[in-house]
Amino acid sequence: MALFLLLFTIFYHSSSSSAAYTVGVNYGTVANNLPSPSQVASFLRTQTTIDRVKIFDTNPDILRAFANTGISVTVTVGNGDIPSLAKLPAAQSWIAANILPFHPQTSIKYIAVGNEVLATSDKVLIAHTLPAMKALASALELANITTIHVATPHSLGILSSSEPPSTGRFRKGYDQRIFAPFLDYHRKTKSPFMVNPYPYFGFKAETFKLRVV
Ligand SMILES: *[C@@H]1O[C@H](CO)[C@@H](O)[C@H](O)[C@H]1NC(C)=O
Repeated sequence: MALFLLLFTIFYHSSSSSAAYTVGVNYGTVANNLPSPSQVASFLRTQTTIDRVKIFDTNPDILRAFANTGISVTVTVGNGDIPSLAKLPAAQSWIAANILPFHPQTSIKYIAVGNEVLATSDKVLIAHTLPAMKALASALELANITTIHVATPHSLGILSSSEPPSTGRFRKGYDQRIFAPFLDYHRKTKSPFMVNPYPYFGFKAETFKLRVV
């Protein structure tokens, strides 16, 4: 059961008066001898306080398994599918095939459009990411779905400096040229700016440095 707990992500509810927080996990499936999606869903629901899960595709078995569990799911559009989704009819077909059959029984909260697209340095992919996000958001709106938001997770490599946090800066040129239109989209659609932080890897590198000194 430990295999799929690849990464913990903590979402703080800042508006809440008590110190309530939400714990989510990435549910990866690149491994062998994995428990079935229904076993995973049942385990999370009955044995943990985890109430958010992110998957790296739109696996229908997983989406069905999380129906009526109270656990919200983030689904992912594969990087390779992004260019074709930049047009509204294709985005509508994608929503019809991958979201509508599971909504609202499964609480899908976010559609992650690709993963760390900037880190790929693929110009075609990068140029189509925001148009695909907008097309998918429009397709959701046309389907009268207001509970699902569209975003794209970035790697922490978007920062030129992150430590100490007060020195945090986007990489040179990213702020105006790349992120301004993304941030404008997020503000208008009230969708989140997503980043994949891997604090453990950062910590591990630090531990390693200390040891070799
Ligand atoms: C969305 O809602 C509008 C207004 O209630 C309605 O006319 C339209 O048929 C709905 N569209 C879908 C796809 O349900």
